Order: sequence, then C-alpha cells, then structure tokens
Amino acid sequence: MSDEQDIALDELPGVGKKTAEKLHDAGYGSLMAIATMNASKLQETADIGEKTATTIINAARDELDIGFSTGSEKMEQRESVRRIPTGSEEVDDLLGGGVESQCITEFYGEFGSAKTQMALQLAVNAQVSPEEAAADQQSPDEDEEDGDESSTAETTANAADYSKGVVFIDTEDTFIPERVEQMAESRGLDPEEVLDNIFVARAYNSDHQILLAEEAQDIASEHDIGLIVVDSLTAQFRSDYVGRGQLADRQQKLNQHMHTLQRLANTYNAAVVVTNQVMANPGQLFGDPTTAIGGHIISHNSAFRIYLRKSKKDKRIARLVDCPYLPEGEAVFKVDETGIIDA
Ligand SMILES: Nc1ncnc2c1ncn2[C@@H]1O[C@H](COP(=O)(O)OP(=O)(O)O)[C@@H](O)[C@H]1O
Ligand SMILES: [Mg+2]
Repeated sequence: MSDEQDIALDELPGVGKKTAEKLHDAGYGSLMAIATMNASKLQETADIGEKTATTIINAARDELDIGFSTGSEKMEQRESVRRIPTGSEEVDDLLGGGVESQCITEFYGEFGSAKTQMALQLAVNAQVSPEEAAADQQSPDEDEEDGDESSTAETTANAADYSKGVVFIDTEDTFIPERVEQMAESRGLDPEEVLDNIFVARAYNSDHQILLAEEAQDIASEHDIGLIVVDSLTAQFRSDYVGRGQLADRQQKLNQHMHTLQRLANTYNAAVVVTNQVMANPGQLFGDPTTAIGGHIISHNSAFRIYLRKSKKDKRIARLVDCPYLPEGEAVFKVDETGIIDA
C-alpha cells in the first residue's frame, strides 16, 4: 500500500482545489479517509455530483491499492489477533476476550470513571503471556498458598519471556509509576521490569501528541510493542482548538492522528487504547450529555467503544457501544488497590 501522504487530494481526478478544501474542512484530509467513504456521504460532504464522488473514491482506492482479499485471508489475519485482559473477566467477556490488537479501542466517560486506571492496568496486563493469564484464572490464589520464592521467580521469568512493550502517550500528566508498581506487584510481576517495558511520553499540546504517535513507530520497530495508549486522546485538541470556527481543523488533525494509530495497530499487531471525555456541558455541541468528544471522526475510527460510568458504591459499569461484530451489553467491574477487578 502506498503511503497516503504521497499525493495531495487535489491531484485526484475530479478534485479541484475547492473540493479538496471542502473535504479537508469536513475532516477528510487524507486519501484513506476518502477511500473508505461511500459515494452518497462524499456527495453530501463535498457538495458534488454522485458521479464525481464515485470517481474520486475509486481514484483514492486505486492510489492506496485497496482491493479485495478473500474471506480466508481475512480469517488468517483475524487469527493473529491478540487480546489483552482488562483484569475483569466480565469486561473481557463483553469485549470477546479482552482488548484486541489490530484495532483502536476507545474508553470514554466522565472524569473519575476509571479511564486512566483501565489504561494503566492494560499497560501491565499487556506484559503477561496468555498462558500465564490462563493459569492465573484457573487458580487465582495459588501463589499465595505455596508462596515460596521459586514459584514467584518462575512467574516473573514467564512474564519476561513474553514481555510485550507498551507505548504510553500521557497528555494529562496522570501516568503514575507508583500505581503501575502496585498493579504489577498484585499480579506477582516484577514492578521494575514492568516499568522498564513502558515507554512513556508526556504530550504538551496536540501537535506534540501527533508527533509522539508518529515517533512511536521508531520505538515499535526496535522493541516488541503490543500496546499503544493515548490517555487522553482529546484533551489537548480540546484546549488547542477552541470554538466552532476551529472545529474543522481539529477534526482533520484528529483524523490524521487516528490514522497514524491505526497504522501502528496493523503494522505491529498491537492494540491501541485511547481515552476520551464526554461533553461536560449538555447541549453545547451535540445535545447528548454522554456523547464522546470528537464526534464521528473518532467513532468511525475505533472498532471498540466502551462507555465507562460510576455505579452504586464503588462499582463501575462498562458498556460496549457500536461494535461491528459483538452485541451491545454491559459489564460491572471495580477498581481497588490491586487494579481493575470483577465486582
Ligand atoms: N490505589 C487505588 N485504590 C483504589 N481505587 C483507586 C486507586 N487509584 C485510583 N482509584 C480509583 O480510580 C478513580 C480514578 O479513576 P481515573 O482512571 O483516574 O479516572 P479518569 O481517568 O476516568 O478521570 C478514583 O476515583 C478511585 O476510585
Ligand atoms: Mg484520566
């Protein structure tokens, strides 16, 4: 597949400067965004005829070499999907086994709904081999019972063999290493080793965040990266692009950022986890107070969207929204000192 930045939109047949601008303003600034659109949507967005829309889409598809693959090829690709357990079996079941590689998973919810806790927990769990996770589930307190050093050492060695690296883009300065240590220790992992495998970068503004995601490519090609976290995906964009006038620019940048993340997910068979806030002010932009920031750009780009909310006592609810192949549903979980657990 050729790089989508290779040619400019207005070099596509049928796309003049004006149309390119319209598309750009609507948040469709890349060939990939055009190639994956349908004609009627493009027609509406860019205010062009249906025939032109079809021509443009086909040209974008040609340019990107997007074509058919067989069902079996798709199946093969699906078979290499890895799943990172969340710490709560109920949430894992909701997600079909855990957070999937090769796609973007979005956790959205209010402040304090445990988005960061989930992100940190996944950064720890990404480093646990599936075999070890399975053994854990069969006998959760085996370690405590025979508690001798050799068994602990063995667990740690297994984890080291697997050691999936993590890239963590922290935009709100909420990556707390002590919390990661606590979660790792609770799992019988060596906290130092777990922290050594997490490459953390603090993003100071949205352009910096975009750059960091692009640089994650270098880390991923040197280390075995199984998970990329962006916590929060939208906060910097929200403060950098204030007001309606800048909405189109913001959406275009976000779209570009999501494509970088999706490309990392595909290239490295990595899971991408992003967090997102919900609108604090009902009616401000979309009307629904539980609408995630970023609108259609993010929802179209994430395969899994999970809405987190607080429930009675210290319980929390995860709701799967709009998954292409799993039923909608809810799972209850809790956060305690050990991390994310079943309620
Ligand atoms: N060490 C801990 N022990 C128990 N609960 C914790 C611990 N650390 C965080 N929490 C819980 O997680 C909540 C914060 O969640 P967080 O993931 O930071 O929210 P968000 O990122 O969605 O704003 C706290 O209100 C608390 O309930
Ligand atoms: Mg947070």
